Amino acid sequence: MATAAAPNSKLQQSLALYQSTIGKKYVVAITGAVLFAFTIGHMLGNLQIYLPNAEEALMVYAKLLHASAELLWAIRIALLGCFVLHVVTIAQLYNVNRAARPQAYIKKTPTISTYASRTMYLSGPILFFFVLYHLSHLTTGATHPNFVEMNPYHNLVMGFRQPLSSLFYIIAMSMLGLHLTHGVWSMFQSVGFNHPRYTHALRTFATTAAAVISLGNISIPVCVLLGIIGKDLV
Ligand code: HEM
Repeated sequence: MATAAAPNSKLQQSLALYQSTIGKKYVVAITGAVLFAFTIGHMLGNLQIYLPNAEEALMVYAKLLHASAELLWAIRIALLGCFVLHVVTIAQLYNVNRAARPQAYIKKTPTISTYASRTMYLSGPILFFFVLYHLSHLTTGATHPNFVEMNPYHNLVMGFRQPLSSLFYIIAMSMLGLHLTHGVWSMFQSVGFNHPRYTHALRTFATTAAAVISLGNISIPVCVLLGIIGKDLV
């Protein structure tokens, strides 16, 4: 009967791995890496707003993204899958940790933790609500004051001229910076890339990448509010 069990064994092994704490840490790390790569690509796309021909460049970029509905939906489903797996697995790990420590510490002794690591459960949910708002704002236009289909330049300038909306983006992007500072670092730890020799380099990489992504994105609403971007639109 060994042959009957064989086709199932890979799936069973994967499920058993997922049920283990180490397996869950790998899932969080891999899905986090995909989302991290997305935030880099997305920020680089957004920074085209600084090009002299920004309106045209962003329109070409949007057309490219929407050129193949199949590809666009495949990417959307992959990103959503990573997002859901990332959040669900973190919630499971949180419960595992709580169950392993049923009694709260009488006195909390500070261990080697950073502000970014202590705020992961705050920055994560804020980013979740940010993505919901962001999609309704710049993808569907449902919460945008003056949305024009396939014209990201117009939508960004008009959208960020609303101070409250820009403020929410700035707060969310600051949270993204904090989240990535700890997330990228702990992603390396989870996959076993944690030799003390690399600690400094990995921390520097995580902090620098997080700061570049966060500040690169924050610069856009700030420049719109200051009138540096969008002078051509009335
Ligand atoms: C200031 C920061 C940001 C700006 C200016 C911005 C800009 C945009 C724009 C213009 C679009 C519409 C693209 C199009 O349909 O042509 C878009 C879509 C999107 N953005 Fe952002 N974005 C920012 C930050 C983020 C962050 C931090 C995330 C995720 C953590 C994110 C996730 C997405 C997603 C998932 C889409 C939908 C892509 C699709 O399926 O069509 N964005 N963004």
